[in-house]
Amino acid sequence: MSKPVARPLTPSERAERTASTAFGSAFTEHLVSIRWSEEQGWHDAELQPYGPLLLDPATVGLHYGQVVFEGLKAFRSANGRVGVFRPEAHARRLQSSARRLMMPELPEELFLDAVDALVAQDQHWIPDDPQMSLYLRPVLFASEVTLALRPARAYHFLLMAFVTEGYFGPGQRPVRVQVTDTYSRAAAGGTGAAKCAGNYAGSLLPQAAAQEEGYDQVVWLDPVERRWVEELGGMNLFFVYGSGRDARLVTPPLSGSLLAGVTRDALLRLAPALGVPAAERPVSLEDWRSGCASGELTEVFACGTAARITPVGEVGTADGSWTIGDGTTGEVTARLSDALFGIQRGELPDRYSWMRPVEPAPQPAGT
Ligand SMILES: Cc1ncc(COP(=O)(O)O)c(C=O)c1O
Repeated sequence: MSKPVARPLTPSERAERTASTAFGSAFTEHLVSIRWSEEQGWHDAELQPYGPLLLDPATVGLHYGQVVFEGLKAFRSANGRVGVFRPEAHARRLQSSARRLMMPELPEELFLDAVDALVAQDQHWIPDDPQMSLYLRPVLFASEVTLALRPARAYHFLLMAFVTEGYFGPGQRPVRVQVTDTYSRAAAGGTGAAKCAGNYAGSLLPQAAAQEEGYDQVVWLDPVERRWVEELGGMNLFFVYGSGRDARLVTPPLSGSLLAGVTRDALLRLAPALGVPAAERPVSLEDWRSGCASGELTEVFACGTAARITPVGEVGTADGSWTIGDGTTGEVTARLSDALFGIQRGELPDRYSWMRPVEPAPQPAGT
């Protein structure tokens, strides 16, 4: 069912709203809402005008953190067609996050219907600038009104969208990262592999501490030995050994405490097709340092939906800092970034059927 806004914004009002595209600010006009209850299962799926919610103060999600979310993107290609990158993978990850938090799993078909409805309705918000895309944010939260500490019996799924460029803005300069030996992002047996809200709340203090010391992002080590590199802020990490025809990629394996990135998975498939073998293998902090010192480790980059492919230029630890390569964007990093972005923007063949095309919904005249 669809209830679009009565009076859509005009192109100039839209331009005003997207004048600043700081991450998570330029929201479009619609969202999709779906409810779940024990009696009815998933019901009341509807495209609605974007607007505030009215929540009872005893809404479970606000108290006990039964909240999981996703992040995926829609891109406009040069011929004007819009496609969403790997929504099926994001639907499945939302299900696996929900399982971990004892929440109902939104069926993949419903997730895809929601994505199609919102992207059809609001795709004209994506500016022509090739750096811009539409970030889609699905969130599922416990909406039952009770303060009983048990899995809630009612849930609310929302899908919203905002216009964005890369997380770090245009240009994707190499970032400086700090390895924290004070904090952990996840615990063994905890929720690190789920995309749940609490993981992000816990990362804010270490992130602020790193920024205070002039770094962009925090590197998370494994929570048990504090020896193995896991991920970077809200991104997965890749290490490039060697160069030219001998270059090969390594990324830490899915240990149970890091997030299985959809971009990570895409690169593990894309890189070998470009002649760069890719392996999942543990990388210790010591490997990172000694590999850079010997020159064997030539490039490091982070990847994720929001951050795309972001080169890492410098690493700081309690025992000193070092530069990766010459501190600028490496050749393999640039090649993979071009290949991935080329598929997303429809400039390169989509051999893996990663893009889900979405046709625009008819719009009233003058919008
Ligand atoms: C903790 C964390 N790691 C990695 C990623 C990268 O995942 P993806 O490539 O699916 O965006 C994200 C972003 O969702 C994240 O929040």
